[in-house]
Amino acid sequence: MRQLLVIVLAAGEGTRMRSALPKVLHAVAGRPMVAHVLDAALAAGAAQIAVVIGPDHDKVAAEVRRVAPQAEVFVQAERRGTAHAVLAARAALERGYDDVVVMYGDTPLVRPDTLAALRVPLAEGAGVAVLGFRPADPTGYGRLVTEGGELLAIREEKEASAEERAIGLCNAGLMALDGRAALDLLDRVDDANAKKEFYLTDVVAIARTLGRTAGVCEVAAEDVAGVNSRAQLAEAEAILQQRLRARALEAGVTLVAPETVFLSADTSFGRDVVVEPNVFFGAGVRVEEGATIRAFSHVEGAHVGPGAIVGPFARLRPGAALGQGVHVGNFVEIKASDLASGVKVNHLSYVGDSSVGANTNIGAGTITCNYDGFRKHRTTIGANAFIGTNSLLVAPVSVGDGAYLATGSVITDDVPADALAIGRARQVNKPGLAARLRARLSSGVAPKA
Ligand code: UD1
Ligand code: MG
Repeated sequence: MRQLLVIVLAAGEGTRMRSALPKVLHAVAGRPMVAHVLDAALAAGAAQIAVVIGPDHDKVAAEVRRVAPQAEVFVQAERRGTAHAVLAARAALERGYDDVVVMYGDTPLVRPDTLAALRVPLAEGAGVAVLGFRPADPTGYGRLVTEGGELLAIREEKEASAEERAIGLCNAGLMALDGRAALDLLDRVDDANAKKEFYLTDVVAIARTLGRTAGVCEVAAEDVAGVNSRAQLAEAEAILQQRLRARALEAGVTLVAPETVFLSADTSFGRDVVVEPNVFFGAGVRVEEGATIRAFSHVEGAHVGPGAIVGPFARLRPGAALGQGVHVGNFVEIKASDLASGVKVNHLSYVGDSSVGANTNIGAGTITCNYDGFRKHRTTIGANAFIGTNSLLVAPVSVGDGAYLATGSVITDDVPADALAIGRARQVNKPGLAARLRARLSSGVAPKA
């Protein structure tokens, strides 16, 4: 097995994003771009990952540690070009890996297979291998200068002749280097060019002068789409959504109108899940076998148990955990709450910071009052309980197994198991008083025309 070092360049400013956030932290499918790139590096079997970030990019470093705790982070103090950025990871290169693959932090759609394909020429003796693609508009990309199928050099747009600019095959950015030769190649790169930058792409011509060959792999343009603007971020999002929908369908999920369902990279579905139109899945959702997510629901950080039914128009927020066969109906919001199997919350309710035992029925308009303006408090409801319509449970409070809350109750004290709790003003009927009241109120008022 050849040992692989992946170097991720993420020192870009991303000025065209017009954002306070470093570019590589902008998300596609609910996950920062750099996390997608790290996922691909890990899936490709990287023995080590080195990420090169810009100064003051502590947030990028934190995200890297979260996704790939074993990765090393290097800071490129000054932006002096892509070869200069790779050399910021010199300490990692000096350890001597078999293969080195350079990836860009703003190219989130790269597939692990592409990394594998790029390493094939190295195994066959090439000094470097680059990834080629044919963009609709090649402006701005380095052109791959070939002769008889052999790669001679990569010419950056600024240095390219008119003839070279006419070349349609461009450099996607990903590059693989023979790990034993990488430092020697990189140290020979200079900044004698239009941008006064150390171009990583120069290593192709340098390798050839040292008698090494350079390989090319070609991929579909959409796999290597780079993100430099919000418009390109939206394009990358659209491509990734297509892939995620295809993956869900392939896994046995029914998407009634796939193009209206928005998924996160980590959305996980069991077989025979049905998702109706216009549903949004934020990060961290697991939906188990046979569950149905009905139209216009918003689901994030939630676990939906087997056979559960959610929506239409439901909102599951982080920490919502629904057991087997739970029903959560229209205009219901669930946050940080465990609903055991068979629980029903079908209409117009808020259940937050709560646990609800099996088969309890929560009536329409029930609210757990979990916040006092300073702290969140928990509500505990047992199994087989009945929470009457329009009840308010003022947390912290608990309701025992089998208890029954009368409709319209405001529950401030714990309710023992099997008790009936009535927490509302008593009704008073005054016979005949309606007619007298009407007479009094209407005196001196002209009847309506
Ligand atoms: C680069 C390639 C070009 C290729 C294109 C594909 C070079 C010289 N050119 O051009 O052949 O067609 O990508 O998109 O490599 N970076 C740093 N530090 C630096 C400079 C860049 O970390 O000092 C990072 C950037 O954050 C980015 C990546 O390297 O992730 C590429 O840099 P960028 O300036 O976008 O290069 P391009 O001009 O697009
Ligand atoms: Mg670029």
